[in-house]
Amino acid sequence: MCNDAQFRTRWDNPLMSITYKDEAGVEAMRLACRLASEVLDYLTPLIRPGITTGEIDRLAADYMKQQGTVSATIGYQPNGYPPFPGHLCTSLNHVVCHGIPGDKLLKKGDILNVDVTVIKDGWYGDNSRMFLIGGESACSVAARRLCQVTYEAMWKGIEVVRPGARLGDIGHAIQTFAEANGYTVVREFCGHGIGQRFHEEPQVLHYGRPGTMEELKPGMIFTIEPMINAGKRDIKELGDGWTIVTRDRSLSAQWEHTVLVTPTGYEVLTLSAGSLAPPAFVKASATAVAA
Ligand code: MF3
Ligand code: CO
Ligand code: CO
Repeated sequence: MCNDAQFRTRWDNPLMSITYKDEAGVEAMRLACRLASEVLDYLTPLIRPGITTGEIDRLAADYMKQQGTVSATIGYQPNGYPPFPGHLCTSLNHVVCHGIPGDKLLKKGDILNVDVTVIKDGWYGDNSRMFLIGGESACSVAARRLCQVTYEAMWKGIEVVRPGARLGDIGHAIQTFAEANGYTVVREFCGHGIGQRFHEEPQVLHYGRPGTMEELKPGMIFTIEPMINAGKRDIKELGDGWTIVTRDRSLSAQWEHTVLVTPTGYEVLTLSAGSLAPPAFVKASATAVAA
């Protein structure tokens, strides 16, 4: 999802207002989001040196069929974009987001973001993770640290979520943490409301000032999905109309969860057996997995 004026007009439904989910909607979102997370669980052991991103896409498509979901990305065509050709996005090394699966062979030391959005009974679940190809020991210290800090940056944003907090608080928490670690935050793309549409209001910027922007209220569901660059924050779009890369070709990482605002805080919806534990700084009471 994107916010830069030049990009924004091209995305879907920029004027739609925020939807607040009732108990039935929340229950439907819990299911869609768990299934989206389970696609990543399924793919995890398959994402290794020698597989192509296109093969990952095909395996994911088969798995979605089995679990009774539909990919939200295949054929997805916001205003002015060509239809997206993948069942998921595969963003390798200096690719920031929206990488198209194809004949790219994964090799030891690569870092890959896999972003999966599924539709279950009309409801959307959206999440992504980073994968260290060949395992931790195969990757550079710099690549591992970028992935780790980006994961923690996402959780710095999640931690802030509760009624009365504002979207600017989330962006501020992410930005200050990422920049304190020497990294930059991509500004052109952001998190987004989600429900019976892929991209709803509000836009969830990953930078900002405390106390600004929309106030969070129970029943809101949105993604937090920071894209963090090792080098400069500038990006460019490739000629395929989708792939976004860092302008300086520095490494970029991203993690994404879909999050519900509860009466007392938050519930992360995109959790499953294979989800990575929250960082140690996250209070355990706040992260109880939905029953
Ligand atoms: N899943 C992405 C997001 O987090 C959007 C991908 S759109 C696609 O918002 F068309 F590139 F797949
Ligand atoms: Co998203
Ligand atoms: Co996504």
